[in-house]
Amino acid sequence: MITLPQKRTADVEAREALLDQAFGGTRDRKTSQRLRDGRLPAEGLSLIAADGRRVIGTARLWNVARGTGQPALLLGPVAVAPDCRNRGAALVRRALRDARRLGHGAVVLVGDAPYYSRFGVAAEKAGALKLPGPFERHRLLALELIP
Ligand SMILES: CC(C)(COP(=O)(O)OP(=O)(O)OC[C@H]1O[C@@H](n2cnc3c(N)ncnc32)[C@H](O)[C@@H]1OP(=O)(O)O)[C@@H](O)C(=O)NCCC(=O)NCCS
Repeated sequence: MITLPQKRTADVEAREALLDQAFGGTRDRKTSQRLRDGRLPAEGLSLIAADGRRVIGTARLWNVARGTGQPALLLGPVAVAPDCRNRGAALVRRALRDARRLGHGAVVLVGDAPYYSRFGVAAEKAGALKLPGPFERHRLLALELIP
């Protein structure tokens, strides 16, 4: 698996197709998408996993801020091609490692705790955080990169 910092248009199209396949055509209606609208991912934190030239996975982190202005990163969407499973964890670990290396202090995400708990992500760490729209409290998860 490699990451391609300089993505070609074809890679971006392949990533979007992968996300449509993983989450369906209504993925843009998710509340977490409201935090990404009109923004670019955080510098150096838009990861594509490739097998040769084929895009097989994607993970991105976005700069967000709490109401108090405290910065964090939003992780997502994360997806791996159905025929390339068992590579997602490496992609998520790489994204979190890069975020830590770049000095970011915390990550939040909306996802399945049974999956993300292996990365140290937990609902308790999200405390009383809210999102700008409907969300399931048990799926709002967080991780401290800097304790
Ligand atoms: C979620 C996803 C990125 C995981 O990547 P992957 O390459 O399939 O899986 P990984 O190598 O990271 O981990 C595999 C393990 O995670 C488990 N797992 C995968 N998705 C899970 C989920 N949503 N909840 C709980 N466990 C999950 C698998 O059963 C497997 O368990 P095992 O190790 O006990 O066999 C991938 O399945 C995917 O793209 N899913 C569709 C998009 C999606 O739902 N993304 C967000 C997840 S909230």
